[in-house]
Amino acid sequence: MAPTPGTGAPTFTRMDASTAEHWSRIVDEIVEHQPRVAETVLAMLARLADITDGFAVDQLTHCLQTATLAERAGADDEVVVASLCHDVGKAVSVPNHPRIAAEILRPYVRDEVAWLIEVHQDFQGAHYFHHLGGDPHARDAHRGHPSYALAEQFADEWDQVAFDPDAETLPLDHFAPRLRTVFAHPRFF
Ligand SMILES: [Fe+2]
Repeated sequence: MAPTPGTGAPTFTRMDASTAEHWSRIVDEIVEHQPRVAETVLAMLARLADITDGFAVDQLTHCLQTATLAERAGADDEVVVASLCHDVGKAVSVPNHPRIAAEILRPYVRDEVAWLIEVHQDFQGAHYFHHLGGDPHARDAHRGHPSYALAEQFADEWDQVAFDPDAETLPLDHFAPRLRTVFAHPRFF
């Protein structure tokens, strides 16, 4: 049998040969290595500094400004961290970036916060979809949702105004401790 990386203990080479003991050890290692999740997200955010795509600021600056506005508005830690990460999906793919970010956040934040990030483009679209042939009223599909007002505040007061090279921009290091805390405990274990 091949050794389990990091432990030297024997493990399975195909899943139908695995045992409860194997899985207990795997879960222990995943929990032990949980801090790598936050470090991966921080690295993805840092890479957004290389993406500008025609905006007045790079995407890291945009995310930092959005989180700064959320913090100044008194948002709680999950909402501030979600605001920081709302466009992190652009490090992978722009067209589906809201869902990528929402799925990265989903195990670590309450449902309304993951929902807010998943639908944020529908709310943001009120400010620019008319230039692209899209529906600027896309947010109307979410009317009645318990977190509609939060999504509106996110898009109108924080996200859509966070493209100003002269605006207050708290650094990534400022948010990193809170990001590490939020990503420390998935709801799956
Ligand atoms: Fe954004």
